[in-house]
Amino acid sequence: MLSSKYAVLCCASIVAVSALTISQPCRADDAAVPDAAVAPTSSTWTVPDIDKLPDDVWGKTVRYGRDLISKTSSLIGPEVADVSRRFAGNNLDCQSCHINAGTKEFGLPLIGVYADFPAYSARLGQVETIQERIQGCMERSMNGKRLPPEGPEMIAMAAYLMFLSTGRPVGANTPGRDSGRMPELDRAADPAKGKTVYANMCAACHGANGEGQRAGTAGDAKGYVFPPLWGPDSFNDGAGMDRLIEAANFIRSNMPQGTTWKAPALSPEDAWDVAAYIDSQPRPSVQGLDRDYPNRLEKPVDAAYGPYADGFSAEQHKYGPFAPIEASIKKLEELRDAQR
Ligand code: HEC
Ligand code: HEC
Repeated sequence: MLSSKYAVLCCASIVAVSALTISQPCRADDAAVPDAAVAPTSSTWTVPDIDKLPDDVWGKTVRYGRDLISKTSSLIGPEVADVSRRFAGNNLDCQSCHINAGTKEFGLPLIGVYADFPAYSARLGQVETIQERIQGCMERSMNGKRLPPEGPEMIAMAAYLMFLSTGRPVGANTPGRDSGRMPELDRAADPAKGKTVYANMCAACHGANGEGQRAGTAGDAKGYVFPPLWGPDSFNDGAGMDRLIEAANFIRSNMPQGTTWKAPALSPEDAWDVAAYIDSQPRPSVQGLDRDYPNRLEKPVDAAYGPYADGFSAEQHKYGPFAPIEASIKKLEELRDAQR
């Protein structure tokens, strides 16, 4: 029991630090942990009460930050009337992925995140601030532009994230701060099988062609009731959700809408396959991805774009199986360390 608890904590911290480091040290343990059989973390899952904040400048700023996360498309989306405030490139909201304004356990929450920054980013190969991490999601998940670093939006988002870490010591690890880790398949995930899962379990909300369902009509800046999963108004190919391990675990712990980590609706197999189907679909492309992860050994095994330090194909990095890649990276790391 202790060791399985440790496995989850250990993975949470790895995802926490950047979600970009390779998960090698955890994998073997994870595979041994029966899925979702680990002690629930809800006893420690607390969300600070935003309604208790006074209606002063600080309270207003934190609330504006919350609104920017939950109504991104209406405030800084590509259809807002004020052209100078069109920062996001698609009509997703941050909470399309960071569910319930970033407060849902295992729903890619933003709770505890502020307490863990600045942090090393394997993607950048340097330590990044919380503001820089937000810019990462602006440019990729939101397929948009960087926010003015000292502007009111960035200040409000950072204030809200700090508020969400209320009472959490600097450097503390917050279990539940990702979307969980289910065992990996020992085969490649199969987009063809995933297509059937998608038709049965997802299309009713997200649309037959992944186009989602708008709250109103195109151009009104009201965003989506059900966000698009691919196509021109979705996240781009540099986003975390375009990586299979990230997408499959998010889907397993959170989809269909209302699903929780403790009571998943999909089998692990179906979650892997449907994630493969979604990540096989067309989406916006971002320039310069070859500059990501300057230390190639730190590249996540499921990054679908090269270059890679190992000899595996882009196809296997996209769909798995990942264990052979992880083993090869481990060997390369040992070799490197031996030469030091
Ligand atoms: C009942 C409606 C519903 C169903 C069914 C549903 N979703 Fe979702 N999905 C949502 C909503 C709403 C969100 C936004 C987050 C939230 O509020 O839960 C979302 C968010 C997502 C996201 C992240 C946001 C994005 O645009 O990429 C993914 C990925 C996703 N869903 C995949 C799936 C998959 C795969 C299935 C089928 C297994 C599925 N969903 C079934 C309603 C649904
Ligand atoms: C399409 C899904 C998606 C959307 C939309 C999205 N993000 Fe993210 N975000 C992710 C994923 C996946 C991760 C973790 C994996 C990674 O690092 O890429 C993440 C990580 C983060 C982190 C670091 C969390 C941690 O635990 O270290 C922050 C902060 C963040 N996002 C902020 C935002 C903000 C602010 C927005 C809106 C402007 C946003 N995100 C929109 C998917 C999304």
